[in-house]
Order: sequence, then C-alpha cells, then structure tokens
Amino acid sequence: MLKIAFATAAIPSQNALLLTVADQKKLGEFGAKLDRKLNGILKRAMEAAHFTGAPSQTLTIMAPAKTRLSRLVLVGIGDPAKADAATFTHVGGGAAAALNGKDAQATLLIDGHKGLALSAGEAAAQAGLGARLRSYRFDKYHTKLKPEQKSALRSLTVATNDVAGARAAYAPLDKIADGVFLARDLVTEPANILYPETLAQAARGLKALGVKVDVLDEKAMKKLGMGALLGVAQGSIRPPYLVTMQWLGDPKAKNKAPVCFVGKGVTFDTGGISLKPGPGMEEMKFDMGGAAAVIGAMAALAGRKAKANVVGVVGLVENMPDGNAQRPGDVVTTMSGQTVEILNTDAEGRLVLSDAMWYAQETFKPRCVIDLATLTGAIIIALAHEHAGLFSNDDTLSRQLIAAGKSVEETLWRFPLGTAYDKMIESPIADMKNIGGREGGSITAAQFLQRFIKKGTPWAHLDIAGTAWQHKDKPLSIKGATAYGVRLLDRFVADNFESP
Ligand code: BES
Ligand code: MN
Ligand code: ZN
Repeated sequence: MLKIAFATAAIPSQNALLLTVADQKKLGEFGAKLDRKLNGILKRAMEAAHFTGAPSQTLTIMAPAKTRLSRLVLVGIGDPAKADAATFTHVGGGAAAALNGKDAQATLLIDGHKGLALSAGEAAAQAGLGARLRSYRFDKYHTKLKPEQKSALRSLTVATNDVAGARAAYAPLDKIADGVFLARDLVTEPANILYPETLAQAARGLKALGVKVDVLDEKAMKKLGMGALLGVAQGSIRPPYLVTMQWLGDPKAKNKAPVCFVGKGVTFDTGGISLKPGPGMEEMKFDMGGAAAVIGAMAALAGRKAKANVVGVVGLVENMPDGNAQRPGDVVTTMSGQTVEILNTDAEGRLVLSDAMWYAQETFKPRCVIDLATLTGAIIIALAHEHAGLFSNDDTLSRQLIAAGKSVEETLWRFPLGTAYDKMIESPIADMKNIGGREGGSITAAQFLQRFIKKGTPWAHLDIAGTAWQHKDKPLSIKGATAYGVRLLDRFVADNFESP
C-alpha cells in the first residue's frame, strides 16, 4: 500500500520527481530554479509536447541529464486562482498514475504558484489523498504477476511550504481513504468469497474503530416480519443478515436523532427465477455496492472520529434461482405490514431495502434516512456513469447531498417523484407490485421505496448502479470498484451534522 508523507519543499536528488506547473507553462518557484539548472529542458519539453499546464495534464521526462532523477513529471494545475480541492486530488491522482515504472519512492513537489486559491497545506493534503486513492490495487488473486506488472511505488513524499498544515489536513483524509479502500475491496471480492455471512463479518470489523455493530440473523428477521427481504433470500443456501452499525461520535447529542444510512447488500444478483441473461452476469457481484458504501462511510467517520451520531443499516442477501426461490406472482408481507406482489424477482433490491429502511426507522427514529443502492439498469440509460440518481422527498436534504457530492466529485442528479409515478406500481392483488414497467424505471423503483418512509422523515435515495463500478480508469480510481458514496456521505456529515 502506498504511504503518503510530507516534507519541506525542496528538489530531491534522486528517484522520481513530480512537479506542479500552472496554466500557460508557468513554472513555480522551484520549477524555474530547476529549469535554469537543467539548461531549459523543462521549457523545451513543454513546448515539444504541447504541454500547457492545464489541469490533470502530465508530461514525463525520463532520466533527465545532469540529475540522478529516474524521471521528472510535470503535472498541470491550470489557473492557480481557480484551483480547488479537486484540482489537487487530480494532481495526486495524475502523479500516482504517471509513476508506472520501477520507482519505489517519489516526491511530488507542490510548487509555490502565485495567486493560488488554496492554502499550501490544503493543496498538499488533497494531493496526498488523490495519490492514495488512485494507487488502489486488488492483486490478491494474481499469483503470477511479474515485477513490471505490479506497482513498485511504496512511498510518496508530498513536498510543501506548509508541512504542519498539510499533515493536519491530511490526517482525516487518510481515514476517509481507508473507508474508500474497504468499500472497494468489498465490491471487488467475488461472490463465492463475499456473501451475506462474510460481508456481515467484514462489518463486524468496524468494532475495532469503536463502532457498535449488531447482526440480525434469519430467525430474528422472521420474528420481525421482514417478509420482503426474506423472500429474496429464500432461493439461496446462504442465509441473509441485517447489520446495524452505530457511531456515537457526539456523546453530548446522544439523545438527538441520528443520521441514518441504509445500503442494498445483494452479494450476487442472478435475477432469481426472473433470471438475468448470461453475458455480463458476473458484474452482479457489485450489487452490494450500496452496503459497501455505507460500511466504508461508517469506517471513514469512525476512523477520523467524526463528532456526529450516525447509524448504518445494511440488508445482506443473495438472489438465486432455486426450488425454494420465490416465484413471479408471489405476495409477500413486509415488516411495515404492507403487502407486495412480486412480478419480477429481479427487482429484488427494493424488497431488501423496504424492510431494512422500515427497521431502521422503527429502531433508531432517525432525523433523516439516506439509502444507497445499485438499484436499476435504467439509471445507467438516463445518466450513463457520470452521476448517480437522487430521489428525495426533501429539498433541503437534496441540496445538502448535491453540494457534498459536488465537492468530492461524486455527483448527483435529482429526478422527480409524484403521485402519477406512484400509481404505476399499484397491484390488483396486493398493496403494490414490485415493478412499474420499463418507462421511468428508476423513478418507479424510488416510488416503491418511498412507500416505506414514515410521514415526516426526510429521505433521499441514491441510485448508484452506474457509478459504483467504472469500466475505465478515472482520475481517482482505476477501472473497477469506485466506492462511490463513501466520500459523499462523509462530506455530507462533515458539512451538516458535525459539532465543532
Ligand atoms: N441490480 C440490478 C440493477 C442493475 C442492472 C445494476 C444492471 C447494474 C446494471 C437490479 O436488481 C435489477 O435487476 N433491476 C432491474 C429492475 C427491473 C426488473 C424492474 C433492472 O434494472 O433491469
Ligand atoms: Mn435484480
Ligand atoms: Zn440487484
């Protein structure tokens, strides 16, 4: 794992050096000095490569003469006056991506740029976060990787004019990155290794951070009447679990209602009797991405000792076809007492969430409920992989979530809800059916969930089916599990519910 350290700004004598450059090839204080010492090769290289210093642009000069550096990488930051946290997470991410060679050690020098909109310490800390996030690997099942296929980079020193400020700003970010890595690991693990029982076990691991973890088994859920969650689980030989995680970081406010996150944890979604087509089905190991985001966010909050009271609830099941699986046409009774006609066993996430959300409200009387779920393919049709869908009964909550998402680049796009959509899930035999037809599929799924939110409870649903997994590298994540939601939820708590 990549270790991030901070040191006083200086040009290192060896290994790899990465150096920030502003818009229009503007070298900073150290860059200008180095360019003079190296007879102007930085300027010549920038010219030759059309490198302008635009945000996220990188330019690698291998083994520059007159130095013992293995490589010199220029990293663009764009206009210093417009630089923000995201600019510098991308600098770090770009740095980690550019270090794809033999270097085990590297220095990322955040140069002094005139008019920088961010403090030097904050810029360095964000760069450290970006580098760590982008350095994530999941190699455990490769037994034959050659050295050149593995990442050699072990430690990155971020050189800055404000070491103390950088260290202070980075400390909580490192814990957030731990939460992100945890969520990525959980999403990436295949479903023969990660199933409800082992995912519950992973959640229990948060006890080490001071989180109170409780696990309900099948018997307890039967007693509570969770017919919807149990109906999904009944086709699998792997028993379901419901896990609650409580972080009481603000003991003074312990009598106040907590913030509540609920996650869909379908460890594998075959579709059940409404079986999915074979090609691409392997992707459905990621169908616990909502639960992973909740677990990762709880790890981040507890890890950085957030002064807030937050509870996470995840419903863990495997959706399989089987002699005992539920059938299309079955009617189940949810914990809320409402009945559901199952018309498609592949619309299982909403069934799991209906009981998990009801249980969360009954048990914790939360001030708001935010659920995360890889819920619908339709959200990918609408938004591709760029935004997650937001559905909510509350404008303030929506604004808070959209703002948090924007600042950590886990963006949301809000969809409408309304009675006309709600009518689309009426059933001739039960209180509702579990599908509403192809049209507006993400909205009718959200309408279904809303029926399990008690009157007066602010609620938001995040459909992360398009963002939990990416098919190509991104500035802060390699192809694969993104842990979308971890940073967003952490930021949402930090900005709105944390005591000073
Ligand atoms: N887990 C899937 C949603 C999904 C589908 C995510 C494709 C990513 C890619 C969910 O359980 C599901 O199967 N939803 C169905 C709902 C339909 C049957 C109403 C869907 O979206 O096709
Ligand atoms: Mn499904
Ligand atoms: Zn699913």
